Amino acid sequence: MPKSISVLILAHAFGLLQGAAAVECTGTFDAISASDYVAAINPGWNLGNTLDATPDEGSWNNPPAQPETFTDIKAAGFKSVRIPVTYADHFVGSSPGWEIDADWLQRVSDVVDMALDAGLYVLTNVHHDSWQWADISAAGANLTAIEERMYQTWLQIGEKLGCKSSSVGFETINEPPINTEEQAAELNKVNGIFLEALKASGGFNTQRVVTLVGPSMDSIKTSQWFKAPTGYDNPWALQYHYYSPYDFIFSAWGKTILSDSDIATIESDLENIRANFTGVPLVLGEFDASPLNTEPAARRKYMDVVVRKAKELDTAVMLWDNGLDHFDRKTKQWKDPHALEILFNAVAGVSNSLSSYTTDASATEQSSSAYVFYKAGKDITDQTISISLNGNTLKSITTEEGTELSSPADYTTSQGDITFTSSFLSGHFSTSGSPGSKANLTLTFSAGATAGVNLVQWALPKLGSTSSTAVSGADLRIPISWAGINQPAAVKMLRSDGVYLFDDWTQYLGPLQAAYATFDGQWNWDGGDLIIRAATVDAVIAAGVATTFTIDFFPRVAGNSLNYTLNV
Ligand SMILES: *[C@@H]1O[C@H](CO)[C@@H](O)[C@H](O)[C@H]1NC(C)=O
Ligand SMILES: *[C@@H]1O[C@H](CO)[C@@H](O)[C@H](O)[C@H]1NC(C)=O
Ligand SMILES: *[C@@H]1O[C@H](CO)[C@@H](O)[C@H](O)[C@H]1NC(C)=O
Ligand SMILES: *[C@@H]1O[C@H](CO)[C@@H](O)[C@H](O)[C@H]1NC(C)=O
Repeated sequence: MPKSISVLILAHAFGLLQGAAAVECTGTFDAISASDYVAAINPGWNLGNTLDATPDEGSWNNPPAQPETFTDIKAAGFKSVRIPVTYADHFVGSSPGWEIDADWLQRVSDVVDMALDAGLYVLTNVHHDSWQWADISAAGANLTAIEERMYQTWLQIGEKLGCKSSSVGFETINEPPINTEEQAAELNKVNGIFLEALKASGGFNTQRVVTLVGPSMDSIKTSQWFKAPTGYDNPWALQYHYYSPYDFIFSAWGKTILSDSDIATIESDLENIRANFTGVPLVLGEFDASPLNTEPAARRKYMDVVVRKAKELDTAVMLWDNGLDHFDRKTKQWKDPHALEILFNAVAGVSNSLSSYTTDASATEQSSSAYVFYKAGKDITDQTISISLNGNTLKSITTEEGTELSSPADYTTSQGDITFTSSFLSGHFSTSGSPGSKANLTLTFSAGATAGVNLVQWALPKLGSTSSTAVSGADLRIPISWAGINQPAAVKMLRSDGVYLFDDWTQYLGPLQAAYATFDGQWNWDGGDLIIRAATVDAVIAAGVATTFTIDFFPRVAGNSLNYTLNV
């Protein structure tokens, strides 16, 4: 049910309290509509884990932002950058003025200028404050204090950035946790307080495009509860984020594929929020299937489906990148250049040819045409991969060195099926050779993105030990010698009494998911170790029964798993 918003009265009170000095700008402002801004920023890239890191820029996995990164992002083809900023650790004053460190505001202004200088549009926000002082959903939250601080925060940001060009847009706050309709009504009010503060801050801020945010920036809750504040001049778009399906994106419960029903759900989720906000410019401000933990063929399909559907629905996309996901800011390498090409082509409405993979969630083995796998010791035979051509034709296949493969000596084709000959594969694989990636082939089509095929020789990896007794309170690190792809695909956790260590309900999933655990929180890996998280070790101790971890590797086929038993 819509609720009336008494923001004006409230926020005017803040204004009087603060005696706000509105900034005045020399120069002019080239006003832009929200729909033109949204069209112009597509596609965008997130400068993740940088100014949003806590307590400070540089505290997480990235060095401070540098001008070069923005020129690299622009050169890659992006039109905009979202610059998330956390203010929580930069307040030097308390209630009622909530003064922000002048050096921090200057730094934010400087980084915004770096992006503008590179020719990018900018969207900046108040970021991880959402789960710190600004958490509306927290038990006993002092809403008056949150409102006061939001107002003062945006008043100061508005004053500092008020004279920036119309290429700079503002976003209320990142992913505000909201669970109830009542909290959602408070967030709607906070969007109004944000606009009221911008109005008081002066500069060009009432003409500036803003992106307002709904509950948790979740498409469903936003559809349910978001109401735009009224009585403001700012052109506005609505921003939401999308990380579904959760199990695929976060490698939960052994999920390494996208099923056809997953794809249908992605499409209907994006269609639903569009249908709820007809005529409202929409920004998908964060989405990502990270090269760090997702299977390449499924990841590329995901990129194509999300971006193509967003484009069709007049929604701008901004790729999340925490600095480990996509672009290595130091080496300037993109981790998955094919996924990037897919993104740009989908934004341009050009059809992409995509590697096929197993989409059946009940399958007992999975294949992926992003690879040609060869198991060491076997005969080297012809191998076929399958590409969904999507209206294109295959033009060429080249090696990293740029050598073009010849047909029929190296490969033959039949529609989207490409068969590599044993004589070609023998040049890369050998029955007694060492395991690992032997070559990356690039498939070029008549239109759209290139596809990649990684030739991988594999054997069963080796663990440094196969059992131990659980020790509470620390991660268990098991040394591992990789033998093909240097990461696990999934880890199953089954107690010796037959009970699943976690998530009993996964018994209803397929054989490659039942009893499987979740990446990062329950297991992880690094260069030389498989890591069983302390929380998992403690769960084994609490269960009081030995538990076997079955570690699956890629390809997920019979015989490519290892067991480790943790005793109590
Ligand atoms: C809530 O915040 C307001 C504004 O900062 C403050 O005046 C009030 O005392 C706070 N209430 C409580 C219960 O802490
Ligand atoms: C609005 O979104 C909800 C939740 O996603 C969906 O169920 C509903 O069908 C959408 N409304 C319209 C008019 O499409
Ligand atoms: C092929 O690409 C993958 C993924 O980027 C990489 O890990 C691997 O080392 C490459 N293989 C070769 C032979 O360069
Ligand atoms: C690994 O352990 C599971 C039980 O958790 C068992 O079914 C399977 O046969 C074992 N595999 C190997 C290779 O020992």
